[in-house]
Amino acid sequence: MTFNPLQERGIPLDKQLRNWRELNVTPTDPDHADPYTRCRIITMNGIEVEAIMFSHHLARHCPDVELKQQLARVRYIEAQQQKAVNWLLPGLASVLETTMAYEQVAVDLTAWVARMEPDAYLKQAYQFGVLEDFDHLYRYANLYEMIEHRKAEKIVDQLTEVMPGRPTYLHHRNPVDNVREPYDRSSAAPISKLHALTIMSAEQQTMNFYMNVGPMYMEPIARQLYQEIGLIEEEHVTHYESLVDPGESWWEMLLNHEYNECYLYHSFMETESDPKVKNIWELHLNMELEHLRLAAELFKRHDGRDPEQVLAPELPAPVTFEPNKQYVRELISTQIDYTTLGTGYVQEAHERFEKMQEAIMGGEKAPSERVIDDNRAKSGHEYRLQTEGEHPVHSLAYNR
Ligand SMILES: [Fe+2]
Ligand SMILES: [Fe+2]
Ligand SMILES: [Fe+2]
Ligand SMILES: [Fe+2]
Repeated sequence: MTFNPLQERGIPLDKQLRNWRELNVTPTDPDHADPYTRCRIITMNGIEVEAIMFSHHLARHCPDVELKQQLARVRYIEAQQQKAVNWLLPGLASVLETTMAYEQVAVDLTAWVARMEPDAYLKQAYQFGVLEDFDHLYRYANLYEMIEHRKAEKIVDQLTEVMPGRPTYLHHRNPVDNVREPYDRSSAAPISKLHALTIMSAEQQTMNFYMNVGPMYMEPIARQLYQEIGLIEEEHVTHYESLVDPGESWWEMLLNHEYNECYLYHSFMETESDPKVKNIWELHLNMELEHLRLAAELFKRHDGRDPEQVLAPELPAPVTFEPNKQYVRELISTQIDYTTLGTGYVQEAHERFEKMQEAIMGGEKAPSERVIDDNRAKSGHEYRLQTEGEHPVHSLAYNR
């Protein structure tokens, strides 16, 4: 069945406000919830946070008071949506457990996007990034075993493997080399624009999360690991945001944001296993349809163009959380030694990369390496979850 959000009617804006009782959502069950339900919650939180921050930036560039007021009205609803969504997470999870869930999102969402992306250059950008977040999961899983004495499979279940990807210490590139070429807004497929917004938003929320929770730990190795990976998430935001064509007008960007919210709520409504959570996706979709209609009005008025010229004629296939184990293994065996040079990719270390490495390491091992050594020393082994057999790269095979 085709679904064109531009043709659908949503909830009128003045009917979207929720009271405390309606905002007081029931959190998911920490022991029995589907890990991918948690992934959908985290994804939508990232999307709503981006909707809020984008609207704030737009408002700061907007001289017209009436327009600012309309932005404020919609943004308040986005803020309520963010609360409803993120408050679905059960309070019981530790910061590290939530961290691993964030990296699971980064792995399975980015892998899915890489598989579906039609443009070769954009696809490469997702393939490149996924191998790094995959490795972050492994580093955090070892920290988790070491300081909380638990195993990451409690969080990721058997859905996502935990083993080395591109080693984290090699993610520290000269910032110049994190900037990609953007897609061309006039020729890019609509799905490519949605993919870029989605992954950018997810990485941005991970970056924000680590910069805030990192210092909440007492253990020096934990504090250091969050600093290290927090800096890589900064690189990832730079990497993904640069894929978006900066030639889009503010109204076109607003339109793409609202369209993407419709797309993702619709996707998750179609694929959600928890009926209570599904109801929230459906309610929010109906709110977003109205946000989209309002954005389309602004786009027509200020850009003098039809939304149909820039948006897809119907929603693309739903974004789906599912295991990507074989896909990630294939990437590991072919792209593990990639790094970036300018806006492209190379397989060997270059001068600018090595200079950066030297400067940031200061002659010491990175926290991401030490955390594995420390866990081996404490637990007698390193933590891995290899459900599909031995590591695809011989030198990274597990030896006890
Ligand atoms: Fe929203
Ligand atoms: Fe990450
Ligand atoms: Fe990342
Ligand atoms: Fe919205």
